[in-house]
Amino acid sequence: MTYRKNIIPANKFRNNDKAISVGNPFWDMSEHHGLAGIVADLDNDLLHIRHGHQFVNFSCCSYLNLDSHHKVIEGALDAVRRYGVLDHCIARSRVQIPALKELEESLGELFGADVLSGVSASSISGGLLPLIASGHLGNGNRPLMIFDKHAHVSLAAAKPACADETEVVTCNYHDLNFIEDSCKKYERVCYVVDGSDSLGGYAPVRELAELQDKYGLLVFYDDSHSISAYGERGIGYVRSHSPALNENTIMVVTLNKAFGTSGAAILLNNYPQSVLRLVERFGGGLNYSQNLNTAAVGASLASAEIHRTAELPILQKKLYNNIALFDSLIPTTQSGQTYPIRLVPVSDERVIDAGRQILEAGFYVSPVFFPIVAKGTAGLRVMMRAGQTEEQIRHLCRIFFDVRAVQ
Ligand SMILES: Cc1ncc(COP(=O)(O)O)c(C=O)c1O
Repeated sequence: MTYRKNIIPANKFRNNDKAISVGNPFWDMSEHHGLAGIVADLDNDLLHIRHGHQFVNFSCCSYLNLDSHHKVIEGALDAVRRYGVLDHCIARSRVQIPALKELEESLGELFGADVLSGVSASSISGGLLPLIASGHLGNGNRPLMIFDKHAHVSLAAAKPACADETEVVTCNYHDLNFIEDSCKKYERVCYVVDGSDSLGGYAPVRELAELQDKYGLLVFYDDSHSISAYGERGIGYVRSHSPALNENTIMVVTLNKAFGTSGAAILLNNYPQSVLRLVERFGGGLNYSQNLNTAAVGASLASAEIHRTAELPILQKKLYNNIALFDSLIPTTQSGQTYPIRLVPVSDERVIDAGRQILEAGFYVSPVFFPIVAKGTAGLRVMMRAGQTEEQIRHLCRIFFDVRAVQ
């Protein structure tokens, strides 16, 4: 009798058994109560479910409503007509149509960086982080890669690939002492963190800049939630506040949130052309997968133009006014911040039912509860946007009280 081998996984940096057993009951329960798996048509910023029910989506990250801006839509259509192709399938390092270059130059001018674009922040982080881990963006030393415990899943997903190149550790949320201790012990350290994270809060960019200055710490920021929504010409939180915008700051941003289009960008400063080429050639999906398609490029060029006009600060102001109105009606621990996400605490037992009642009353807010978040910290996540009307915000807040989601 021959025995075939059973594999025992290492599960050092990912564990699908655990992720699915912990996470899937959350999704099943959400779907069972009509709060996930929803199919709805978008019409004039209202979502319609087939049997006639309509609702306003308060769970969308297009914070400035640029995704439906007429110039963005026209930009997409024009670009496809101008270049006559949606995606001419060939690796960008071999042949690329001028549209991509045009966009990267435009974003580079807007954000004050050298820019490489990709189809999503998830794919470019997945390609770029292992290159950093192997010491190819820096002085050749392999850095200790410190991932913040709350780094977005698209960053955390790169841990196994980084661990094949160097040492990888996870630190507590914004644990500056741990980072500094590591800088004392290791020749080179890279800290991976969200510039603005999905449950509210900004990275300690000034304190990190001090460590960058003192020890040459490399910081990899994902500033996807604040690009466009924050700062002059929408340069985001990190670029508005960090004094260290040099080769020790590497940044990734999605173009799919407040920027209002599709795709993502890597922002680099002070790196020679040879390193940019390396990233383009060896940054995983950047070279071996598809490019940003022409419609997305055209839409992004149009959005970048809007960022250069007086319309951008007007939209940002509308967003901030809407956030302030919400805060005045329902205080949360995020109240007073410019960050556009609010988590309204609701008990684990009540949160699904409250979400369902709010949906029936015409608004979608996303419930988060155990096991996705710790017991006792469940709540309804509300995304504020520039295009929401005062009436919609007041109405939603009244419903929060009506369904006793808040007292
Ligand atoms: C911090 C952060 N980074 C990246 C992403 C994903 O961006 P993309 O859709 O471009 O992969 C998200 C999505 O929610 C996010 O919250």
